[in-house]
Amino acid sequence: KSSTTQEEDVLPKNLVATLPAREGWSEPLVQYHNYWFRPGHLERILLVKQAFVPRADDIILATQPKCGTTWLKALAFTITNRSRYGFIDHPLLTHHPQHLVPFIQIPGAGTGHTDIDPFGFPRLLATHTPMSLLPPGMRSLGCRVVYLCRDPKDALVSRLHFENKAFPGTDLSMDRCFSMFCKGFSPYGPFWDHCLEYWRESMARPDSVLFLKYEEIKSDPTQVVRKLAKFLGVPLTEEEERSGVAQEVVRLCSFEALTSLQVNQVGRVHFSDNIVMSNSVFYRKGEVGDWVNHMSQEMGEELDRIVQHKLEGSGLVF
Ligand code: A3P
Repeated sequence: KSSTTQEEDVLPKNLVATLPAREGWSEPLVQYHNYWFRPGHLERILLVKQAFVPRADDIILATQPKCGTTWLKALAFTITNRSRYGFIDHPLLTHHPQHLVPFIQIPGAGTGHTDIDPFGFPRLLATHTPMSLLPPGMRSLGCRVVYLCRDPKDALVSRLHFENKAFPGTDLSMDRCFSMFCKGFSPYGPFWDHCLEYWRESMARPDSVLFLKYEEIKSDPTQVVRKLAKFLGVPLTEEEERSGVAQEVVRLCSFEALTSLQVNQVGRVHFSDNIVMSNSVFYRKGEVGDWVNHMSQEMGEELDRIVQHKLEGSGLVF
């Protein structure tokens, strides 16, 4: 029996308790197959890997936390549901994007946080899981995956603020987070390995995996809406181009529009029974390059050097 098969026979809870663990972030992280996870998250990842039954038409939105998941959820939901919902009374006006696109769950295991027909056709699902730990059926069935990444310096700054805001009692400093992140020790990290797996897959199977960057959406969101619509099998029609549908999608999903809505300012998102977060915690500045306000130029250069070295030869650059 291979060690992988033996591992898979072990209940996630029991396995997680045996893994290397480290303190540092708001909760200790455990290491599994090279990646660092909060123990509860890893349990769910392993459950999903074992028991989730993918469908060939599933659309998976994959990210590392703080790389723009909320934005991607809003965009993909609006694009794929545009024949069902008009812009005047759109669900995004009254529902948090995190509500509209659920993270992949096992039915019955702490689900129930979505209230708008999440499992319609096709299913739109999100995940932070590294490519190599997704349910294997997703690849063999050719499920479409959209991966969104971001300049690691901005992702780190966003993570630091998120941890301190979302987890009461956490007071992490930039120096501490920087040093952990540079060693690859961050939730769902090493950051670069997570990106690289999806990057390589997007090169090998471009019809199934679309690789996007936060900065690219920021600089030309309308073009990304067109690209996403095409990749997801619902390209904009000439009539939609003429009537400015891409621009409407961009406007509805913009940081300014979403943060002006009450639903994104108050209330909470229930991810599972024990993971509840305030709706506003998913929005901060929504800018490219905010890292300069939180780390020194030298730190920025050091992280760039590390990432460049890790990505060398892959063709992926930040
Ligand atoms: P900042 O902390 O840099 O502002 P995630 O959704 O993966 O948790 O990522 C959160 C980051 O995306 C935060 O970045 C947040 O402000 C930003 N964000 C959320 N919604 C956005 C939107 N509609 N447009 C641009 N950025 C957005």
